[in-house]
Amino acid sequence: MAVLGIESSAHTFGAGVSSNGKILSNAKAMYKISDKGMIPSKLAEFHASNAKRVIEKAIADAGIGLSGIEAIGYTKGPGLGPCLRIGELSAISLASKLNVPVYPVNHAMAHIQITTGLSRMENPLALYVSGGNSQILSIISNPYKHYHVHGETLDIGIGNMLDNFARAAGMNPAWGSTVAKAAENGSYISMPYTVKGMDFTFTGILTYAIKALEKNKVEDVAFSLQETSFAMLSEAAERAMLLAKSRGIILCGGVAQSQRLQSIIAGMAASHKAKFFVAPNEYNADNGAMIAYVAEKMHRRKGVKFDRLGVDQKYRIDRVDASWL
Ligand code: FE2
Repeated sequence: MAVLGIESSAHTFGAGVSSNGKILSNAKAMYKISDKGMIPSKLAEFHASNAKRVIEKAIADAGIGLSGIEAIGYTKGPGLGPCLRIGELSAISLASKLNVPVYPVNHAMAHIQITTGLSRMENPLALYVSGGNSQILSIISNPYKHYHVHGETLDIGIGNMLDNFARAAGMNPAWGSTVAKAAENGSYISMPYTVKGMDFTFTGILTYAIKALEKNKVEDVAFSLQETSFAMLSEAAERAMLLAKSRGIILCGGVAQSQRLQSIIAGMAASHKAKFFVAPNEYNADNGAMIAYVAEKMHRRKGVKFDRLGVDQKYRIDRVDASWL
């Protein structure tokens, strides 16, 4: 028996299947972002027209058939409201047809949990970096078991910052990997660096970098933007790692696909003889498998009262009771 997970918080509609903690399938359809960025209503239309096909593919790839699904999880948030709603409706309608329970999953927790599971580490510090989120977290048990946010962005997510810069620089596609490509032959120019304890901000450096395009080569600005913002994340994560006495750190979320960020965080961890782990890219990009993975854990815990269904655009991970983990 297996659990189906549905992800639809942003530009990806994903469906995956987990059975006994093993991922059996991970299907997805990804909306191609235009030069206007992500328009929620357009993304939701895309999700609605791809939902059935992606879910059917996930079930077929897993080789289980509809009768093999014993529960369904979906992303409750955080994310874009109209997009989340399509995932929720898909989950609830299929669950009522199959007469199986539905579980609301926190998107950030799903990224962290699947990466932690693959790392085989016990409660590592997590550096979770994506378009909409940038946080440093670990589980603490006081006053109840939950993910504690040691530090986070005080304005926008680092992925959003890189995408915005890519758009301003006329890059296509306008996202982080294009900035990384442009940065390959760049030289360093000084940029504003903002770390406040274990928090950080990205709008100042974004404004500065866009202005710097007027007088500098795009590769130099791209390189300096990456180096400076990644160094900010590393400094904040290092402080959190030492304060939390973590012996390992995991990197997860869409921006975890950056090889440069991976090498900076791996180097920082190595300097403290701490372990470092990053999952394969298919789990850092948004995906249904991670939702299935967490929903299966929820389903196996009997007698726990989980959050109610619905969607919540600002569903913070530190609001989720994690006593069932
Ligand atoms: Fe994500």
